[in-house]
Amino acid sequence: MLVLGIETSCDETGVALYDINSGLLGHRVHSQVALHAEYGGVVPELASRDHVRRLLPMIEALLIEHGHSVGDLDGIAYTKGPGLAGALLVGASVASALSYALSIPVVGVHHLEGHLLSPLLAKPAPEFPFVALLVSGGHTQLMAVEAAGQYRLLGETRDDAAGEAFDKTAKLLGLPYPGGPALAELAEKGEPTRFKLPRPMLASGDLDFSFSGLKTAVLMLSQQVSDGQGEKADIAAGFQEAIVDVLSTKCVLAMKATGMSRLVVAGGVGANRRLRDRLDAAGSSGGFAVFYPPVELCTDNGAMIAFAGAQRIRQGLTGAQPFSVQPRWGLESLPAIVAHT
Ligand code: KG4
Ligand code: ZN
Repeated sequence: MLVLGIETSCDETGVALYDINSGLLGHRVHSQVALHAEYGGVVPELASRDHVRRLLPMIEALLIEHGHSVGDLDGIAYTKGPGLAGALLVGASVASALSYALSIPVVGVHHLEGHLLSPLLAKPAPEFPFVALLVSGGHTQLMAVEAAGQYRLLGETRDDAAGEAFDKTAKLLGLPYPGGPALAELAEKGEPTRFKLPRPMLASGDLDFSFSGLKTAVLMLSQQVSDGQGEKADIAAGFQEAIVDVLSTKCVLAMKATGMSRLVVAGGVGANRRLRDRLDAAGSSGGFAVFYPPVELCTDNGAMIAFAGAQRIRQGLTGAQPFSVQPRWGLESLPAIVAHT
């Protein structure tokens, strides 16, 4: 069964071909970073228009690259939400039109479920159950994943998401959009112990997070010190260390609380090198295994949407209303996917 995946929730156009039997055939991502850079952030209307321009040619090129035509498709998966309404509508329209024209099923996929299941595209893939740390630009959540489609929220951020904190702090330090990767790169050159930044909710005893205070601390700090590059790098390193400290501590707590032996990390911040090093070390000393999606599948992509959608299409779980988007959407309302035997 060949499934086309389409991701247009924000500022990346992603397309992918996933085959139930042979796995991921290939995927393509077009990043709109250059388009939004001069505005210092994503401009929703520009994002939608760029998806309109890119999506069909990208699908066509991907099919040709893999020796397929639209007639070979057995199903289509698109990101239904959460995300920017206009951007989501582009993917939904193309997916629904193709599905109608080809008389094949279409499924609207939850973007976070895509991220959550993306480590299953790695080899070796983790077995269920596992704890998932979902760290993206919009979300920071710890989930207990019993099976595909069975998600229990263990804790989440009360304000900014980890990626959002990276982006806002990067902006404060005068780094170019997109801030997260730029800040991480600068932090590599800095001394993480020079400036001690707060670790919000580190000792709260629960699995919730709060990151908005960190950026205020960085703002105050950067007003106190001279604005040399060395200072900036040390602040960036101190900030990254604080975030990574909180994330890894709460992951260890979640592993203990659930008694599970596998931790899966997903979402854009999962690409962060320092976070990976700290989680790997925590796994070795805490006796749990840590899994990541392939680095190129950490940030938004069509492969994770094709994969998550294929699991639902295979079981006929395509929902009643194919043409719709859901810009705000909780993950726990999804119907479970029964394990494939
Ligand atoms: O999952 P994603 O691509 O999009 C959302 O669904 O939000 O995550 C994007 C977020 C951005 O906030 C970006 O700054 C952050 O992931 N990010 C990073 C790194 N790469 C991407 N944050 C820290 N270190 C990185 N290396
Ligand atoms: Zn995402």
